[in-house]
Amino acid sequence: MLLADYSLLRHNTFGFDARARYAMHIDSVDAAAALATDTRIANMPQLVLGGGSNVVLTRDFDGVALIVAIAGKRVIGEDDDAWLIEAGAGENWHDFVAWTLAQGMPGLENLALIPGTVGAAPIQNIGAYGLEMGERFERLSAVELATGERVEFDRAACAFGYRDSFFKRAGRGRFMITSVVFRLPKVWTPRAGYADVARALEGAANPDAQAIFDAVVAVRRAKLPDWTVLGNAGSFFKNPVVSAAAFETLKQCEPGVVSYPQADGHVKLAAGWLIDQCGWKGRGIGGAAVHDRQALVLVNRGGATGAQVLELAEAIKRDVLARFDVELEMEPVTL
Ligand code: EPU
Repeated sequence: MLLADYSLLRHNTFGFDARARYAMHIDSVDAAAALATDTRIANMPQLVLGGGSNVVLTRDFDGVALIVAIAGKRVIGEDDDAWLIEAGAGENWHDFVAWTLAQGMPGLENLALIPGTVGAAPIQNIGAYGLEMGERFERLSAVELATGERVEFDRAACAFGYRDSFFKRAGRGRFMITSVVFRLPKVWTPRAGYADVARALEGAANPDAQAIFDAVVAVRRAKLPDWTVLGNAGSFFKNPVVSAAAFETLKQCEPGVVSYPQADGHVKLAAGWLIDQCGWKGRGIGGAAVHDRQALVLVNRGGATGAQVLELAEAIKRDVLARFDVELEMEPVTL
């Protein structure tokens, strides 16, 4: 059904009251494939929305919002090493992770409580607490919006990187992901090395997947605002990656800089620390503010607009550049 003048308030976790000229709920692959020949929306800008947890809506959208609501979760096969699990793109990510644990198929527990949908997960290759989704990914199915053609993408075709994939680059805006297949290893090993998670697990000698799931949920609840209470889109910037030489120069002036050496010799910096050092924690512009427990998260304290959030982000970028000579890159996509 084509809905007119549709409020996107409940479809973006920042809670911006933007409207779309039209909206459609897409609940099957056939419905996704039929879009290409739907004359009512031909030549109209299209915006694919999952949970809206990684988007900044700065204005009303003069086009059709395609809200992905394709359901279903099932075990589709196994080989010697792993189970293959398929989920519809519209499934809630956290509920899906909990379901895999209930099936006795761990492997995604570090990614508990990440807002959004299964279909959005590959777009920015969600990651947290020592695991990236790409490590558990087998393949995905998508529909090319312009042609209605059904396409499969294996891991190589997705070109996953840190908060990055083909779907944020050359594939941006061209596809609707309809389902994702995950590969969950039969021999499970815990990933409990991330400092906050290790602390939350203290005392547990051999944590099982449920214990890690619970620890991740506890850490996230303590640090990250619940978007249903305080609108936000998680980390607003990527953690910047700099050369070893640039890092050495920085470290001489800023010995406390929080950093993570990368396998290729580069160094990832904690953007939250950089922003925090610039004194931004808890400060804001209008209703848009820096979260008081995690400086990497921008929040809508109420009544903020997307434009104010972007203005705040620019001010933060300027300060971080001036003080540390480091360029921050936004994580969410902007409309
Ligand atoms: N820090 C501060 N002040 C702050 C925030 C952080 O000093 O206000 C320092 C702390 O020293 C802390 C370090 O920065 O130890 C790292 O902070 P944290 O553990 O909270 O993680 P992060 O690097 O800020 C990243 C991801 C999160 C993910 C966590 C855990 C990015 C952009 N963000 O945040 O992902 O949950 O690690 O793995 O990579 C998201 O992408 O939306 C997201 C929430």
